[in-house]
Amino acid sequence: MTDLKRSILVTGGCGFIGSNFVRLCLERWPHARLVNLDKLTYAGNLSNLADIAADPRYRFVRGDICDAPLVDGLFNEEGFDTVVHFAAESHVDRSIDGPAEFIRTNIVGTFTLLEAARKLWSSGIQSSMSRVPRFLHVSTDEVYGSLGDTGLFTETTPYDPHSPYSASKAASDHLVSAYHHTYGLPTLVTNCSNNYGPYHFPEKLIPLIINNALNGRDLPVYGDGSNVRDWLYVVDHCAAILAVLEKGRVGETYNVGGNSEKPNLEVVETICDLLDARVGLLSTGKPRRTLIRFVKDRPGHDRRYAIDATKIRSELGWCPTVDFSEGIGRTIDWYLQHLDWVEQVTTGAYRDYYARHYGNR
Ligand code: NAD
Ligand code: DAU
Repeated sequence: MTDLKRSILVTGGCGFIGSNFVRLCLERWPHARLVNLDKLTYAGNLSNLADIAADPRYRFVRGDICDAPLVDGLFNEEGFDTVVHFAAESHVDRSIDGPAEFIRTNIVGTFTLLEAARKLWSSGIQSSMSRVPRFLHVSTDEVYGSLGDTGLFTETTPYDPHSPYSASKAASDHLVSAYHHTYGLPTLVTNCSNNYGPYHFPEKLIPLIINNALNGRDLPVYGDGSNVRDWLYVVDHCAAILAVLEKGRVGETYNVGGNSEKPNLEVVETICDLLDARVGLLSTGKPRRTLIRFVKDRPGHDRRYAIDATKIRSELGWCPTVDFSEGIGRTIDWYLQHLDWVEQVTTGAYRDYYARHYGNR
């Protein structure tokens, strides 16, 4: 039984990937206890986990991962043997507008968690634990920088982050690696490509385009729309994380990707066509593609990301199960069925951000 008595800390469990992970983890590991530590920033929503909030195996704690007394106290109280660290500031555009919070949460927050794990797991308690502990740090392919027209990111690609977001994630990856090499902390790192699916906050490309296209608003495409991302359905990413927790070799990094490279314009046009087919043309009688607007490019915009996932496939037997055409259809259907969720998360603060970011673009 892989989950027997497992005591798990998930950070950032009220965000997009974290909430999908909490749900999958409780489903796959029925004997696990799971504590979700989340600050509930603009990107975190309690409603993302409303369906499991009352599960006796689950506890939510509102708090900041940079708050060392809180984090240390939780480690001592709960005796975690597993940490899955999602909490981060995650939006590249926001990191360009204001990097400070990215440095704090992504670097200092990761350091705070590493220290708490190191203290607990070197205190002698480890010998009484039913399993070897695991600290899994969820990271991104953006740490590797940008690819040209060919090639893929492997686990040995040199780090070359370009945005304040990716630089802060790269710093956190290095800290995790240092804690493994210096203190023997049993760490694992996953570097994943772009996720999409349910509960994706509508500031990121796919949910933003779905929401705007549904409402007949402009569809902002940066530059000429030819930048390429490697899209992975979020539940497949969560399954990869479970596989790494169960079977990954301590101290290792695993790249996770969708093997599904698409230029942004193709993604946007696909969403337009699928929405036209599902809900009919715009009230003007025009197709949604007519809403596409090419806007000023993102500064330092990485050209292309693409993951070589050979290692996780050959060592752990993981591969994506949902291809893009199926996943994007499922995602659009989810948003159509959860218009109330979209409305709830796109309140005043979202509208202010939107006006600031896109107003003069
Ligand atoms: P998200 O922005 O949707 O969610 C982040 C969550 O972290 C939110 O619930 C937020 O409230 C919480 N949080 C932020 N700061 C916090 C703090 N100081 N203390 C406690 N909680 C805090 O992010 P996401 O897209 O779900 O990404 C999750 C993780 O996966 C991140 O580490 C990100 O770098 C990584 N990642 C994301 C993608 C992607 O495509 N979204 C791909 C690869 C890796
Ligand atoms: O690659 C993994 C990363 O994917 C994660 O680490 C990040 O947390 C996650 O946000 C995501 O980063 P991107 O910058 O790739 O995602 P985003 O959805 O912001 O943008 C995807 C592409 O679409 C990118 O090339 C920029 C472009 N874009 C984005 C927005 C928001 C547009 O053309 N228009 C837009 O309005």
